[in-house]
Amino acid sequence: MSAQSALFFIRPERPSDLADIDSVVRAAFVFHPHSKQTEHLIVKRLRAGGRLALSLVAETPDGAIVGHAAFSPVAIDGQDVKWMGLGPMAVLQSCQGMGAGSALATAGLAALEELGVAGCVVLGEPGYYRRFGFEADSRLRYLGAPPEYFLRVALDGKAPPSGEVSYDAAFD
Ligand SMILES: CC(C)(COP(=O)(O)OP(=O)(O)OC[C@H]1O[C@@H](n2cnc3c(N)ncnc32)[C@H](O)[C@@H]1OP(=O)(O)O)[C@@H](O)C(=O)NCCC(=O)NCCS
Repeated sequence: MSAQSALFFIRPERPSDLADIDSVVRAAFVFHPHSKQTEHLIVKRLRAGGRLALSLVAETPDGAIVGHAAFSPVAIDGQDVKWMGLGPMAVLQSCQGMGAGSALATAGLAALEELGVAGCVVLGEPGYYRRFGFEADSRLRYLGAPPEYFLRVALDGKAPPSGEVSYDAAFD
């Protein structure tokens, strides 16, 4: 799959992108108030474990990678129910506010839907993720996260499951 926003081309990662993805993810989280600066390691571990189900990059017209979004399977009450988690998502500071993050999230959710994924969760700012259809749901919990920041979007038109969400061990 690939998608075009006004300024960015969104496409799946290629083997030659890995160093650029690492740099973008590291750089994007440097000033994040809740970051432990381990997001680039999460992406690497997911990839190494075969759990990076969807890895998208945002590329400028001249071929520079300036954004990245990772999607990986989550379990709900320990079961694989075809839900994914979005994250980490990262855009270079110099390119933030120009639509790369939105293009990555929109293209990612569309790709998941095509793959038959039932829904997606994200831990993040409701003010940002609401625009992609994410909303808080008190029936879907993530241990330690404030409920208003743990968000979900159903992609299969069915009622979302309830339960405790767990991410891949790469996030531990
Ligand atoms: C969050 C992030 C991926 C968004 O990417 P982006 O390319 O800047 O986003 P877009 O240009 O598509 O969207 C910009 C809009 O989102 C808003 N926005 C960005 N970050 C936000 C946040 N943390 N909370 C609320 N709104 C936010 C901007 O105010 C802007 O709003 P507007 O469209 O009304 O003007 C990027 O800012 C980033 O990499 N941040 C550091 C890492 C991070 O926080 N990652 C997400 C957690 S995993």
